[in-house]
Amino acid sequence: MHEADIKNYDVSYGKELILNTSKYFGPKGSISQNSNGMNCTNCHLDGGSRDFGNNFKAVSLSLLLLKSTNSNRIYSL
Ligand code: HEC
Repeated sequence: MHEADIKNYDVSYGKELILNTSKYFGPKGSISQNSNGMNCTNCHLDGGSRDFGNNFKAVSLSLLLLKSTNSNRIYSL
């Protein structure tokens, strides 16, 4: 797989986990049955992308700052 394809896959999989968390982590989760069956998007609206919807925008900024101190590469969500 090309690096760009790997990144696209990771982003798609991350989005899937945020939108359909309980399919993977929950009482009947395929990866783990230790959590409560809620989906991240129940609280982080539109998968954490909606303004004033408990979004993840601050997280992407923090990650960018953190990574930029460790290397020359710029990372972002
Ligand atoms: C029951 C509601 C609820 C669910 C479900 C939930 N969260 Fe949250 N999450 C919150 C709230 C409320 C906050 C803000 C807490 C604070 O600011 O003290 C938060 C904060 C966060 C933050 C920090 C955001 C920031 O700006 O610093 C991250 C990252 C996060 N949640 C990820 C997740 C992920 C990933 C999932 C799913 C596995 C998830 N949350 C599921 C309610 C929820």
